[in-house]
Amino acid sequence: MTNKKITIKDAESNKEIDLPILESVLGPNVVDIKSLEKNLGLLSHDPGFLATSSCESKITFIDGNEGKLWYRGYPIEELAEKSNFTETAYLLLKNKLPNINDLELFSNDISNSYDVDSSIKDMINVFSKDSHPMAIMIACLSFLAAKHHKEINIQNEKYRYESTINLIASVPVISAWILNHILSNNFQKPNKSLSIAENFINMSFPELNEEQKNHSSKAMDIIFLLHADHEQNASTSTVRLSGSSETSPYAAIAAGITTLWGPTHGGANEAVINMLEEIKNSERDVEHYVEQAKDKENPFRLMGFGHRIYKNYDPRAKIIQKIAHEYLNKLDDNNPNKPLFDIAMKLEKHALEDDYFVSRKLYPNVDFYSGIVLKAIGIPQSMYTVIFALARTVGWVAHWNEMIEDKNFRIGRPRQLYTGKNKTSYKDIKDR
Ligand code: SDX
Repeated sequence: MTNKKITIKDAESNKEIDLPILESVLGPNVVDIKSLEKNLGLLSHDPGFLATSSCESKITFIDGNEGKLWYRGYPIEELAEKSNFTETAYLLLKNKLPNINDLELFSNDISNSYDVDSSIKDMINVFSKDSHPMAIMIACLSFLAAKHHKEINIQNEKYRYESTINLIASVPVISAWILNHILSNNFQKPNKSLSIAENFINMSFPELNEEQKNHSSKAMDIIFLLHADHEQNASTSTVRLSGSSETSPYAAIAAGITTLWGPTHGGANEAVINMLEEIKNSERDVEHYVEQAKDKENPFRLMGFGHRIYKNYDPRAKIIQKIAHEYLNKLDDNNPNKPLFDIAMKLEKHALEDDYFVSRKLYPNVDFYSGIVLKAIGIPQSMYTVIFALARTVGWVAHWNEMIEDKNFRIGRPRQLYTGKNKTSYKDIKDR
């Protein structure tokens, strides 16, 4: 704690107060405004939380101007190159890289929880094959909330660890079952000898040969790792606020999935491919779509571009772009994915040269390329955001645990600027 502070003065009352500055390790320091209402009768106002720190966290840091991302201090590029999703999940949860024994125990805890209650398959079957997989996933999380309701014990560390492991293990198995369902395949059995990514690919595409499974699992593992966490984004903030009422962690994760689904958040990866397919199938060229995206009157946006925090290239997009290149360099020209990737590269080049995008620092984000790799792996578009949710479940539960373990843990309750009717009184209907 430092004694740094700022002094503000209310011009009307001439009253001055000191507000403490809390120092960050990385990124901007923050002003603690808790005493503002008591001393000056004022609240801060920041719709969309553009300049508001909602919590103290040690998990992830983003430098939006530099286009850099660190998980527990480790650069995402190093983790993507040297680590894997399971080890990174341990890092995000435990704030340290595991030794061999830690990793073995953690991996076994996860694979021993692959045995998801098979009644979930009956519930998945209730949904039509064209139901959106995110809706099915939300229902499955509700099923788990119901199944584990009696065990809720938020303040108990053992309960939190077991729920955390159960969520990290169950969501990928359920995701694969949802994929089996929408592709009209039989539900596949999880294999406890496989990692999360290997088991997901093995359950999703049992028909692949070992080499194909190995190649797809490696790409999937990196995609999971890159999507695992991202500070206080909309869905993580939802999980924190929802979890702050001490609700079931399964229910709080369901809330996070609901938020992630939106096209301006995790739903963008599906929206990117839909946009590329629209361009591929239309008479109009890429320039036409770039012009549409610039037209204020036109609701069209270039999906996969722009970010609330990154005002430079999203480092995850750069890593996924490399995987996309590797995949697509192997494809022969008549593969349906090749034209999409060519359009994506043209769109990216165009947008990065166009002053509208350059002046607004609109760069490709993680979703711009992830859809292309997922398509190359053979994942149906409607499943892309489920894949995002599968990976982000690790970040969500890491933040859920961090919030509850915080000594200042309490239910969140944002305030408001009320600009509705002033106080009035009821009028009988005959007098209205
Ligand atoms: C994710 O928060 C996270 O960390 C999210 C995420 C994570 O890992 O959790 O990184 C994952 O959600 C990535 C973002 C995926 N979304 C998309 O790709 C959808 C397309 N992008 C836009 O919807 C938008 O860029 C947002 C929502 C991502 C960011 O919105 P902001 O910060 O509110 O940006 P803004 O609306 O203030 O934009 C500033 C200007 C505006 O124009 P002006 O009013 O200044 O004239 O840029 C324009 C916007 O109209 N703009 C775009 C644009 N994005 C912003 N114009 C065209 N195409 C776009 N994609």
